[in-house]
Amino acid sequence: MKIRATLLPFLILLLTARGVPAATGDDKPTPPASPLTVAQLPEFQISKGAVLYERYCTFCHGETGRGDGLNAYLLPAKPADLGDRQLLAAKSAAELAQVILKGGQAAGLSPAMPAFAPTLTPAQAGFLVDHLQNAFKHSPANESPDSDL
Ligand code: HEC
Repeated sequence: MKIRATLLPFLILLLTARGVPAATGDDKPTPPASPLTVAQLPEFQISKGAVLYERYCTFCHGETGRGDGLNAYLLPAKPADLGDRQLLAAKSAAELAQVILKGGQAAGLSPAMPAFAPTLTPAQAGFLVDHLQNAFKHSPANESPDSDL
């Protein structure tokens, strides 16, 4: 197809205009001197913990941590209610991470709580503890969700 002679100047204008920077520059945000790299961004520990919890813990402890996961009825011990603040507060973050990594038996609890050391890194156990300490505190099984407001 032939480009008509009258359109040619507009076409040239259009093509050349693309590379030309804005005349004033006032309406353009200036880029930061050194933009953040991905490695400099803060860790999103709680959301990492949520993803890990969803994958490895829900089928026993349940979506909201109440110990009512799909697999719970098959177990010799009821999975802990992870929304129970007293239960979580009674243990340090390090102790909770140890239960996750070494399993229930090593902590004097039921062996029905598996050891996740073969599956999870200590850092991942830390993300999970962060999640447990933040996610379910409004949903203990024996309290109304609004009781602490
Ligand atoms: C196969 C089922 C099962 C899975 C999967 C499971 N748990 Fe458990 N968990 C249990 C049971 C059962 C107990 C209760 C043990 C007891 O009370 O003697 C428990 C207890 C716990 C406790 C101890 C609470 C306390 O009393 O100190 C924590 C913390 C915990 N689980 C976290 C997790 C996390 C985090 C995951 C996922 C990485 C997970 N569990 C996966 C079954 C499971």
